Amino acid sequence: MSESNQRYIGQARPRIDGPKKLSGEARYAADHHLPDMTYAYGVFSTIASGRINDIDTSAAEAMPGVIDIFHHDRFPSLHRSPDNFANGTKVDEPRLPFEDDRIYYAGQFVAMVVAESFEQARAAAYEVQVSYRPDTPITRLEEALEQHKPTPDEGSRHERGNPDSAWKKAPQRIEAVYNTAMETHNPMEMHASTAAWDGQSGRLVLYESTQGVVFTRNTIARMFGLLQDKVEVKAPFIGSGFGGKLFVWPHAVAACAATRSLGRPVQLMVPRAQMFTTTGHRPATRQTLKLATDADGRLQAVIHDSVNSTSMLADVPELCGRCTKSLYACDNLRVSHATVPMNCGTPTAMRAPGAAPGLFALESAMDEMAEAVGMDPVAFRLRNYTERDGSQDLPFSSIHLKQALEEGARRFGWEKRTAKPGSMRDGDEILGWGVAACNWEALKVDAKAQVTLQADDRVLVSCATQDIGTGTYTVIAQGAAEALGVPIESIDVELGDSRYIYGPLSGGSWVTASILPAVAQAARAAVEELKGYAIARGGPFESRKKDDLSFENGALGVKGGEMLSVAEILQARRLANAVGEASTSGELGKAYSYRSFGAHFVEVRWDPGISRLRVSHVLSAIDVGKVVNPRTAANQVEGAVAMGLGMALFEHTEFDQASGLPVNNDYAEYLVPSHADFPDMEVMFLHYPDYNFTSEGARGVGEIGTTGLAGAVANAIYHATGKRIRDIPIRLEQLMVDDLAATG
Ligand code: MOS
Repeated sequence: MSESNQRYIGQARPRIDGPKKLSGEARYAADHHLPDMTYAYGVFSTIASGRINDIDTSAAEAMPGVIDIFHHDRFPSLHRSPDNFANGTKVDEPRLPFEDDRIYYAGQFVAMVVAESFEQARAAAYEVQVSYRPDTPITRLEEALEQHKPTPDEGSRHERGNPDSAWKKAPQRIEAVYNTAMETHNPMEMHASTAAWDGQSGRLVLYESTQGVVFTRNTIARMFGLLQDKVEVKAPFIGSGFGGKLFVWPHAVAACAATRSLGRPVQLMVPRAQMFTTTGHRPATRQTLKLATDADGRLQAVIHDSVNSTSMLADVPELCGRCTKSLYACDNLRVSHATVPMNCGTPTAMRAPGAAPGLFALESAMDEMAEAVGMDPVAFRLRNYTERDGSQDLPFSSIHLKQALEEGARRFGWEKRTAKPGSMRDGDEILGWGVAACNWEALKVDAKAQVTLQADDRVLVSCATQDIGTGTYTVIAQGAAEALGVPIESIDVELGDSRYIYGPLSGGSWVTASILPAVAQAARAAVEELKGYAIARGGPFESRKKDDLSFENGALGVKGGEMLSVAEILQARRLANAVGEASTSGELGKAYSYRSFGAHFVEVRWDPGISRLRVSHVLSAIDVGKVVNPRTAANQVEGAVAMGLGMALFEHTEFDQASGLPVNNDYAEYLVPSHADFPDMEVMFLHYPDYNFTSEGARGVGEIGTTGLAGAVANAIYHATGKRIRDIPIRLEQLMVDDLAATG
């Protein structure tokens, strides 16, 4: 289909699920109150390391409404989940809840009270007396590095050429250490499970706030020894996840175990405070960057060695070098990753895992290197531009980083920038302008879709993927409307139920690229099915072949001849619908490296008189192939930039050093950008479809905007203040000493 004929793909459309969300009709995991339901509330460890000495439940048991109290001496035995991503089975924390008396982190589930009401469960949970034998916890990366030798992640290491000797020999070089703080996913919708076991049929229904109904079904089935078709997982609406809801966490297992033990539905919400401990986070990283160039600013060596914090329960490497290995031209390069354990919950993917902290470090270092060789930061990046992925020795399927840098710079007015730090003023304020590249893998996974042409002339598309707030419902409706040539208003989309045909996990920014080919093929299959019915129906098409018939504007017929509606065809044969299914592979051709690109341009305003820092303007030039829906896609970049701002300036999950307890585990103390912090923001899509990647030419857009942003902010702050801050979040006190105002 030629692009100019497209009616829906590429059009800015409002979200089709918007009215349901606005009216409250959309139900989230904890909105389901089932008949005879019980409510569970956790008791959470108040030490970060050690053992449980004793749990005294007698006072709690005597409280009104209490039904049962679970803990390590009273919990059904379950199977640990196999960690097999390829087979769609994965937990984040390998340990089962209540597995033994050991405490690995503060906020770990140590008991769970089930009662007739939420309030009764919570009140009783507060009365469960737990005594501990505490050990000294480690809750900071620096301490962990003092006490443990990091474990290298060999699988992700990449080396080419002779980076160490090339770095030593080069005429220009820099070396710097960058630190990024632990961050916590804070989706609006808290983690919650509403689980209902039906003992008669041996079925488990689980309403779960999850980015993967199929993964959750597979994993829960394995842990409980059930067949997959005995478990139904539902998540029609999710109040976002950011990676924290990709896989199964202990609360979901606990809720399922409780409903099976008690024979009544159980609802368990994770309190916001425990979302800082027991449902994942982005780990802290320490990254050493060594860059070197020749006299002309061509990179001669790039070395990016990183280590991140992990839990005592699992090694989760944060792949900070995942973009470094291919973003710029360089023959001598190494990236390496290692982990070091501490007493925190298990880290997991958080929007652009690896890339977000990694590009903060790399793009800060690129700014430092540009200055060392006396080049403009945009020009320096262009000098090291490459259209080949040096880590795989393959061309990129489609790359417009050059256009992102050049057109972004033009739109931003970059030519007006003066290089000297502190040299751009506006009244009392000093302006700082910074740039950074952004980058993310273009990923695709296996997907299926089902399209049903109904006798009421409506079309139903269904799939066991989910819309985590990104616009998947809308994009799927656009794809189906486009493939069928029918108005988008006639399409209904049903997602978020593991009983539907297999659909992908909502992660890695891969859903749009993965699902659209399946939707288009399923739509065509449904039309073929309808053609068969039309021919068999007799009448005008009796002697026709399928190829003689075409489907236009919701009706079927011979071009220029009589057209029959779907309803007319189906009703004559007393059929309710014509169904088409399709299955598409996520496998990519081996001729290319597939990635998305972009550039952020950031303006900060620094008023040294009152130490006021504001990010005033962000322009993001984004190269993600064909943009299926510029409205929802721009929303993704805006949200991603907000998270990047959080990373640059605010977000830091902190622990009390002595006790190992989290200290800022709520919305008041854990700072995220508010509306007042958000800059004037311009998203500029480059619109180059990538047909080497998919038939629609669309790569994903969910995560890329978070990458590079913190680097661009740090670079802008350096330009304003002359202070190179290598630890994020950047705090005002780091900028207050010895500032430029004092020197005029
Ligand atoms: Mo994303 S961090 O794969 O939800």
